[in-house]
Amino acid sequence: MKPIVFFFPDSQSIRDVIINKIGAEDGRLIYRQFPDSESYVRITKEVEDRECIIVCTLNDPGNKILPLVFTCKLLRQMRARSICLVAPYLSYMRQDAEFNSGEAVTSRYFAELLSAVCDSLVTVDPHLHRIKALSDLYTIPCRVVHSGKLIASWIKQHINSPLIIGPDEESEQWVSSVAEAHGIPSLVLRKKRLGDVTVDINALGLLSYKGYTPVIVDDIISSGGTMRDIVHKCLEAGLEHPVCIGIHAVFSDGSHGELFAAGAADIVTTNTIPHQSNKINVGELLAGAISDLLSPAAD
Ligand code: R5P
Repeated sequence: MKPIVFFFPDSQSIRDVIINKIGAEDGRLIYRQFPDSESYVRITKEVEDRECIIVCTLNDPGNKILPLVFTCKLLRQMRARSICLVAPYLSYMRQDAEFNSGEAVTSRYFAELLSAVCDSLVTVDPHLHRIKALSDLYTIPCRVVHSGKLIASWIKQHINSPLIIGPDEESEQWVSSVAEAHGIPSLVLRKKRLGDVTVDINALGLLSYKGYTPVIVDDIISSGGTMRDIVHKCLEAGLEHPVCIGIHAVFSDGSHGELFAAGAADIVTTNTIPHQSNKINVGELLAGAISDLLSPAAD
């Protein structure tokens, strides 16, 4: 029997490619919130002994995690053979250590929660830094999809004389995969975080790159503080207005406009989280990774 896919509302831009590429049925998940914000979930399709896939990107996790867990529990109750969670953006990856005594290491708790309700996980470029692999957190099989080559192709098609800039050593993995794909020069800066939205970035290296178009690449744009600081430093160094590329368009309220106001020439993201800045489509990559996880008998 065909696998069956349940899409949460944020998955519109990848729905068709996933359905078509893996030859799955659309499970037409019925999901809504009651006026008091409790969640209603209903599945009307037959799922017994079928491979089930849930697509739910996990930005805004406070609102999404309960309906997701309810959907997994419902599928179990309805005797699904397996549940694969496709979370194009996987949140709760940054609090991966107890930075101050008494802090919850929420990366670990979140992984325990998801590992308890799903059988496998597919995601795009999770924020792995101190923790080197998802298998160090998650006890279920995980597939990670990398968007570096797609980002590199976008840069190659749209930008003359690019210089790829990474904000800090954590970004080195994304910067090098993007830069190496087309032999583009790159520079990784040093960042000190001063608070939730303020950072201090040492950008002295920029002075040697006059004449290039700065392209700042990071995995997450959240408050936009990191990107804004580098935009300012590029302009102070006499470089052109930079293009800001983020894999995951988390964007807290107002941060997208503030980044343009700071001097970004353009802001580009992948569609792991729906946003007006999405210009790079990771749907095919995700569909390939989901196919790898399905059993051959699912065809
Ligand atoms: C940091 O660890 C991440 O790679 C990003 O640099 C960070 O999440 C960006 O956050 P913000 O936009 O709030 O500066």
